[in-house]
Amino acid sequence: MATYLVTGANRGIGLEYCRQLKERGDNAIAVCRSTSDELKDLGVQIETDIDLTSESSVAQLVKKLDDKSIDVLINNAGIVERVSLDDLDFDSIRRQFEVNAVAPLRLTKALLNNLKSGSKVIMMTSRMGSIDDNTSGGSYGYRMSKVALSMAGKSLSEDLKSKGIPVAILHPGLVKTRMTGFTDSGITTEESVKGLLARIDQLNMQNTGTFWHSNGEVLPW
Ligand SMILES: NC(=O)c1ccc[n+]([C@@H]2O[C@H](COP(=O)([O-])OP(=O)(O)OC[C@H]3O[C@@H](n4cnc5c(N)ncnc54)[C@H](OP(=O)(O)O)[C@@H]3O)[C@@H](O)[C@H]2O)c1
Repeated sequence: MATYLVTGANRGIGLEYCRQLKERGDNAIAVCRSTSDELKDLGVQIETDIDLTSESSVAQLVKKLDDKSIDVLINNAGIVERVSLDDLDFDSIRRQFEVNAVAPLRLTKALLNNLKSGSKVIMMTSRMGSIDDNTSGGSYGYRMSKVALSMAGKSLSEDLKSKGIPVAILHPGLVKTRMTGFTDSGITTEESVKGLLARIDQLNMQNTGTFWHSNGEVLPW
């Protein structure tokens, strides 16, 4: 039985991570700003009132966890705000950097003492943050922040090699969640998280630093 800490756990992909982890007998520590009925119903450990963009909020979480060992840290929380060239909103771009790129790095650093050799770190990025794959432009804040997140993940994969901690940079697929307006063309959270957990299970020191689609495809940077 391993302990997974999942951010953005009150809904969407984070909630489904907690559901499937509980189902397979692992421990989930669900971190959120505010809980939801669906999360409460799972009966997992919930750490609420945590805004990941706030230094003091993260310090409060670290204090609550004390020296609890974390086997897998899943940096899942994220936001998307549409920013086009015709309507560049720099505050929105900065906000997306704070949540999508800075916050996961801050949390990972803050929890380093809870990770040990064999623990894993996951960055939930997006294919929208693939430079090679960008043939449609737009989405300035989201795309830029996810590239930055992927780079943080890649640097962490190098820096944490000496500690024996592998890092994966994962794209969940296009998933029916609030973030995508529950798009009909998306896959279900169940299917996405099944694939994501398979990728996390296969993550090791040999393949650390890989950018994977939940379906197992290695994605171009
Ligand atoms: N859905 C997709 O198709 C898709 C595709 C590619 C990548 N992703 C990535 O997958 C991850 C999960 O996405 P999702 O579709 O499940 O999104 P979602 O349903 O919109 O959920 C986002 C989660 O992030 C949390 N969050 C946002 N800002 C936060 C903050 N400042 N502090 C703490 N928590 C915060 C939200 O909490 P609140 O409820 O408090 O707002 C919510 O729990 C994201 O990183 C997203 O970029 C999703």
